[in-house]
Amino acid sequence: MSDEVGSTKTPAPDDHLGSVLTENQSKFKTCGQIGFYRRQKDFHPDRSPYVAQLNTLNTENGVVTLNLTHQETQVPLKLQIFAVEGNILRLKINEESSVKPRFEVPDVLVKEPTTEQLKVSNLETGSLVLEQPSSSWKIHLTANPFSLLVTQEDKELISVNAQGQLYFENAVLPSKESGLTETDPANKPSASKEHFGLWKEKCEDYLDLKDPSSVGLDFTLHGFENVYGLPEHADTHQLQNTGESEAYRLYNLDVFGYRIHDKMGTYGSVPLLLAHKLSHTCGILWLNASETLVEVHSKAALKPQMHLPSPDMQKQRVVPNTDIRWMSESGVVDVFLLLGPAPHDIFKQYAQLTGTQMFPPLFSLGYHQCRWNYEDEADVEAVDSGFDEHDIPYDVIWLDIEHTDGKRYFTWDKEKFPNPVKMQENLREKRRKLVVISDPHIKVDPKYKLYAEAKEKGYFVKTINGRDFEGSCWPGASSYLDFTNPAVREWYSTQFSFDKYKNSTDVLFIWNDMNEPSVFESPEWTMPKEAVHHMGWHHRDLHNLYGFYQQMSTSEGLIHRSGGKERPFVLTRSFFAGSQRYGAVWTGDNKAEWEYLQISVPMLLTLSVTGISFCGADVGGFVGDPDAELLVRWYQAGSFQPFFRAHAMQGTRRREPWLFGEDNTSIIRRVIKERYTLLPFWYLLFYRAYLFAEPVMRPLWVVFPKDPDVFGIDKEYMLGDALLIAPVLDPGVTSLDVLFPGHGEHWYDFRKFNPISSSHRQKVDVTLKEIPVYQRGGSIIPMHTMTGRSTGWMDESPYELRIALDRKGAAVGEVYLDDGHSFQYLHQHMFCYRRFTFTKNVLYSSSADKAGCYPVRSALENVHIMGFKKSPSEVIVHQPGGGKRKLNYSYNKVLCVLSLENLSLDISVDWEIHIK
Ligand code: NOJ
Repeated sequence: MSDEVGSTKTPAPDDHLGSVLTENQSKFKTCGQIGFYRRQKDFHPDRSPYVAQLNTLNTENGVVTLNLTHQETQVPLKLQIFAVEGNILRLKINEESSVKPRFEVPDVLVKEPTTEQLKVSNLETGSLVLEQPSSSWKIHLTANPFSLLVTQEDKELISVNAQGQLYFENAVLPSKESGLTETDPANKPSASKEHFGLWKEKCEDYLDLKDPSSVGLDFTLHGFENVYGLPEHADTHQLQNTGESEAYRLYNLDVFGYRIHDKMGTYGSVPLLLAHKLSHTCGILWLNASETLVEVHSKAALKPQMHLPSPDMQKQRVVPNTDIRWMSESGVVDVFLLLGPAPHDIFKQYAQLTGTQMFPPLFSLGYHQCRWNYEDEADVEAVDSGFDEHDIPYDVIWLDIEHTDGKRYFTWDKEKFPNPVKMQENLREKRRKLVVISDPHIKVDPKYKLYAEAKEKGYFVKTINGRDFEGSCWPGASSYLDFTNPAVREWYSTQFSFDKYKNSTDVLFIWNDMNEPSVFESPEWTMPKEAVHHMGWHHRDLHNLYGFYQQMSTSEGLIHRSGGKERPFVLTRSFFAGSQRYGAVWTGDNKAEWEYLQISVPMLLTLSVTGISFCGADVGGFVGDPDAELLVRWYQAGSFQPFFRAHAMQGTRRREPWLFGEDNTSIIRRVIKERYTLLPFWYLLFYRAYLFAEPVMRPLWVVFPKDPDVFGIDKEYMLGDALLIAPVLDPGVTSLDVLFPGHGEHWYDFRKFNPISSSHRQKVDVTLKEIPVYQRGGSIIPMHTMTGRSTGWMDESPYELRIALDRKGAAVGEVYLDDGHSFQYLHQHMFCYRRFTFTKNVLYSSSADKAGCYPVRSALENVHIMGFKKSPSEVIVHQPGGGKRKLNYSYNKVLCVLSLENLSLDISVDWEIHIK
């Protein structure tokens, strides 16, 4: 098969691909083509028509409930206000009495939030104040028109409905009574029926029949001008003002070759927005799974500051505000205000509601080799051996849809993959894994067992007429499993058990693709909104949850097949809030172009701050053929991103790392090896993401929240708090402007160890060989010596610590170790979590969690201390039981680096290294 490796298949001609892509983009709606957007935009009263009925106030169980009445229609809504433990407020608005229930998002919250007693402290005519005695926030409610103001320590933080945009369509009173007429929600005679699309809406040839059910609300963020979040968009990390142009669309769609710097919805959605200013960070989680649009309006408002001494100064204070308007097609208003006050508090508050990043198996943090498709077993073997021949480590080879029998998932193409078990055993021998694809569409074929069984059990999504919905996807006519049904999820998860999934072994893991879901030749390439799910809910109500549920079920299936012992690995393309609990996410069908390499950084930063730490982009670009420089730069960037997988579309040229000439091969080899030497650091970051909800990949504003120069930076970022990554994202670059964030920080070149002279911005020289990486003074990074062909070989390789001293000559860091694959760390305390502290010329090793009892197999051999000012006279280690030993060292006085070598120290016990 080796003629296949490196062979050049004819790519789709560029102009053809270009026209496919252009045509592809035009099938997606712009805001103006969305009925509920037009209706909400047309509703702009001078003041909110809603009035809070203070006489309906009820404070039973500490939850505040009262009615909001629409002044014209008198239709009441029920408002509930909850104080959730941990500095979170929850507001729910629903119909006061509903004839037809409205969808409330299930399964995303890890549990019903624990609420705290709310007290009415100040009930006056027309207003009231709510507080929770042990908290520093207060809620000021104004009755007419209805609005809320949340203050923290008596400073304005967030207003709700201050712009009067609370909007709530009533499904059962579709006339004047509900405040809506079919012709015009704002009573403008000019508007036509179709214009507002209340009961029917056309999308190309499809007619969507529905009830009006849209909801919306505005929030004013006082003093905030930096807002982030709302993935997934191919846009800057910092959200842009939407002005009167397109709003950020949250609607999961299969957008092959998506447009860049665009607010169109792509594969997944997390309706979480974060806002940051020097003194505060807060967040808004809008828990709604229907199509959602978000407008961002930042404005600098002149605001009198009465405490300032002169009238002039009082006038001149400019206070930036940001107004956020959320609009959803259906469901209820269910919103959590995360009150911070620091960035890490927001991550904790969000994780308390939706869970933390699943702790992945170690292999999945190694390098992944994928393409659509590795053709057959010989191809897999050749590529696998190619890595050994070229001395490049990797952990996982992937099989795309062509490995199946006619796109019937859970089967194998008998011609191309006659011995899948043997193929997996070969990989196992090299301590490597296989990932195969499993999509949610199921080929309509009564002879296909999975289809027949699902059909018989009624497990497919239905049409309004009660028939199984059939759409078209890779296998042709397909039905779609209704993952919103717990029984379907349970059944689907059992399909991964070894007895059911023929020829699968425990080295096989799963990739869920096309799960927006993608439905060819359907409106916007997805499932029609009127399709019917479990309990009669329409697809419209829960569209954005579909992929979340498939990954949940797959992940549970992999755990189940191992008898609950092994950690799963599942990659998903579509996602929602909470998807972090089930595995990894990638950014879908990007292109082999520099702009797509550039945009991958902000896209991943945004995913990271919205809970999804395990994320990555197709290295090399999926669509098209990268040239060598782009490919090399993409490997360099990708190796410092959490999910590190090369992938390529069918018909593109082969691009395994050794196909671009020896110079490039050796650069890529170094890049991948460096990733492997850093795996102890990656693993620690993931453990902390799982345990403490800390993002792995961090925008600079998260690490340096008091440095306004970094709030808009998304070309550089941090890994944890320790490594500053400055990827090269343009062709032909020989120098790069690097911003060294923070004030008075010490930075060191990660590879050469030299300190960086202390200017905030610096031009640094770069070559094609590597991208700039810096270690922050005050940090200690755990590393490995690279041995073997994959992570599976590394538990016996020695450890190393890289210590970078801060101004005071101090540093701290940690290492987390366990078997890398099982749940024993959780159930049997089989882990080793250690802390290293360097202070006053002593390095201490102590326990970070005394419960851990994992027997670590290899020793700490090397320690490099950067920024160490003078050559020592003696270095002595004090070991448990009182033993002392002199250590070998060398000192580089030009770089100020002290290196301790051949230490043979047990990393899992306490010791002290004294430097004299
Ligand atoms: C679309 C996915 O985004 C891509 O990664 C995959 O290769 C193709 N589907 C084929 O399965």
